[in-house]
Amino acid sequence: MSRILTNEIDLETVEKSRINDVDFDNIDFGREFTDHMFSCDFVDGEWQTPKIMPYQALTLDPSARVFHYGQAVFEGMKAFKDDQDEVWLFRPEDNFNRINISAARLAIPEFPKDYFLNGLKTLIQLDKAWVKKGDGNALYIRPFVIATEPAISAAPANEYKFMIICSPVKAYYKGRLSVLFAEKFSRSADGGVGFAKAAGNYAAQFYPTNLANKKGFQQIIWTDANTHEYLEEAGTMNIFFRINNTLVTAPTSDRILDGITRKSVIQLAKDNNIDVEIRRVSVKEIKEAAMDGSLKEIFGSGTAAVISPISAFEHAGDVFEIPDLEDSYSTFFKRKLMDIQYNKSDDQHGWRYKV
Ligand code: COI
Repeated sequence: MSRILTNEIDLETVEKSRINDVDFDNIDFGREFTDHMFSCDFVDGEWQTPKIMPYQALTLDPSARVFHYGQAVFEGMKAFKDDQDEVWLFRPEDNFNRINISAARLAIPEFPKDYFLNGLKTLIQLDKAWVKKGDGNALYIRPFVIATEPAISAAPANEYKFMIICSPVKAYYKGRLSVLFAEKFSRSADGGVGFAKAAGNYAAQFYPTNLANKKGFQQIIWTDANTHEYLEEAGTMNIFFRINNTLVTAPTSDRILDGITRKSVIQLAKDNNIDVEIRRVSVKEIKEAAMDGSLKEIFGSGTAAVISPISAFEHAGDVFEIPDLEDSYSTFFKRKLMDIQYNKSDDQHGWRYKV
């Protein structure tokens, strides 16, 4: 174990990497973690010196507020390795901005940008061998903040832990998905926390998603809580509809996450002269478009999901199959995105960030 202070990070490295114990060809999403992790505590009103240390379990007081009130937010990002062994992040400043937007909504103090970017770079450089080359291989990066203060009165904590852990991954979803359009349960509401990557947003989806899984659907496309008439997002991904040749997606709001992959797809569509409409999308419109054949595709977009095509949906007992297209937008956008992420094409918007 060696210990140094570099770039204002207290660095403690492993004696021996665990990398040879990992079967990279058979890896479940988010089950294996790299040798090191980043950790920074908020105590006495300020973020302390960040640390990078061997990946290890945490010791927290059972009264830590996160266990009782779910005061926790997170991010999802990926690092990619190109053919020259260089490692790249994709739009990391957007993740930084978003974690602080999420944090503010949950009364969590803002995290400093230099701590975030410097910590991320140092951590990924250390664990660079865990980023495997090849399309679909990536290092999934999970920054998160939890309220650690030991106190159970229902109030925001005075102590937090900001951490980054990394996991080598392949695809999140395998193959095309079938989904259910929500009729009863809701993911978020006006004035709520739907736009934030708050841990509780995900926990709240588990029960209805389990019910959907039992009926053979992998995911739910959530509808607006007031009327259940408008399609919003899938919880692990934003949703796009292709009606004839126009791409349609719901506008971001209090209820919908401002997905980084979502906004990249919108930009790529514009760059490639594909019409995009950012507007409310009703269940009725999509069912009618499925019936008259103008609904060509539905796909999700997200960091973990990348671009995940949908093969069928159900609403109110009506089931619709969406035929697989040879020249699909989902394949087109996935290729465009991955070419940028793996440094195989120009990066006209400056989305790549060298580690
Ligand atoms: C991501 O795409 O990074 C997410 O945060 C979704 C996650 C729940 C897998």
